[in-house]
Amino acid sequence: MRILVIGSGAREHALLVALAADPAVSELHAAPGNPGMVQATCHAVPVTDPAAVTALARRIGADLVVIGPEVPLVAGVADVLREADIPVFGPSAAAARIEGSKAFAKDVMAAAGVRTARAEIVDSPADLDEALDRFGPTWVVKDDGLAAGKGVVVTPDRAAAHAHALACLDDGHPVLLESFLDGPEVSLFCLVDGETVVPLLPAQDHKRVGEGDRGPNTGGMGAYTPLPWLPAGMVDRIVAEVCEPVAREMVARGCGFSGLLYAGLAITAEGPEVVEFNCRFGDPETQAVLALLESPLGETLHAVATGRLAEVPPLVWRDGAAVTVVLAAEHYPATPRRGDLIEGAEQPGVLHAGTARDADGRLVSAGGRVLSVVGTGPDLAAARAEAYRILDGVELPGGHFRRDIGQAAEEGRISVPG
Ligand code: GLY
Repeated sequence: MRILVIGSGAREHALLVALAADPAVSELHAAPGNPGMVQATCHAVPVTDPAAVTALARRIGADLVVIGPEVPLVAGVADVLREADIPVFGPSAAAARIEGSKAFAKDVMAAAGVRTARAEIVDSPADLDEALDRFGPTWVVKDDGLAAGKGVVVTPDRAAAHAHALACLDDGHPVLLESFLDGPEVSLFCLVDGETVVPLLPAQDHKRVGEGDRGPNTGGMGAYTPLPWLPAGMVDRIVAEVCEPVAREMVARGCGFSGLLYAGLAITAEGPEVVEFNCRFGDPETQAVLALLESPLGETLHAVATGRLAEVPPLVWRDGAAVTVVLAAEHYPATPRRGDLIEGAEQPGVLHAGTARDADGRLVSAGGRVLSVVGTGPDLAAARAEAYRILDGVELPGGHFRRDIGQAAEEGRISVPG
């Protein structure tokens, strides 16, 4: 099977590593890819241009296209591939609105009876002050558009909430104010094919830039899986109470979901409540989750793309734990510095994201989240130690990372409100 992966981040690099381990996969391609993706032939194609992606898929004879990021999905790249009879893992533009429009997602959840935060859309600065008075503290302010996880501010500081909301409105985007959900967060990724829902292992992201969950939100600084603190049966409960009702509601609306539905949840005293949905694999959780997958990924994604998920045998997972740690460029998430020389990034367990080759062929930083490392081990402590051992071998001037990924879970400091 020839597979084309769309995207250039560590998530797509992790997908390629897992796909390369599937004996049914004979050839891997990526667009645009990155210099670390030695498993694939990379193609410089504009990935939000449906015609260009379809032409590439035809030229290389792709049996499957896997779309990593949300932007091409929201732009309808999967729709055009399907019209050309090319199997694609990723939802239609209509279904991708579950991530592209927070208002759409809230509407689907209300219709499906899924618990989520109380929310209000504000589209004018004149209404902002009164709306903020109806929330907080703590305030949750979201950009109602695609923001790669960075459009969300969660703060006890009303002035900071006001400033973020105003910045979104000034950019021409409505903002969503939400009540704060009090409980530890879980990312549950589900393969979805219409009404068929198959969960992957639950993971937890670390969204703040600084240790101890301090500083601004980022695209994600690290993740771990599985979650030793998650009550037994919670994954089944999330599937039954959240993911299946949403999948059914999408089918009923004529925009059935095909691909990866990412439920971001808080586990509150009331049970699982939805923080957000995404229409694609999450980063950095994917890097950890796929490191424990034993089932053949290529065949599994192909089954979703061809409407056969219900026929796939139960997924098999390796025992133990996996931890992703992200190495970010100096000044990330504000204005990351680019062009710094990277050393030690060719070792196993390193997944590239914001990397490039300079004119002399040297590996340099080219984005905010430069790379991530994945450690696995028989338990969380061992997986953390392995991830930080790999990271010790990587050099990036000004680079920074969190040393506490998975630490609270390892130390038994996470609990679900009773
Ligand atoms: N883990 C955050 C995201 O993928 O949006």
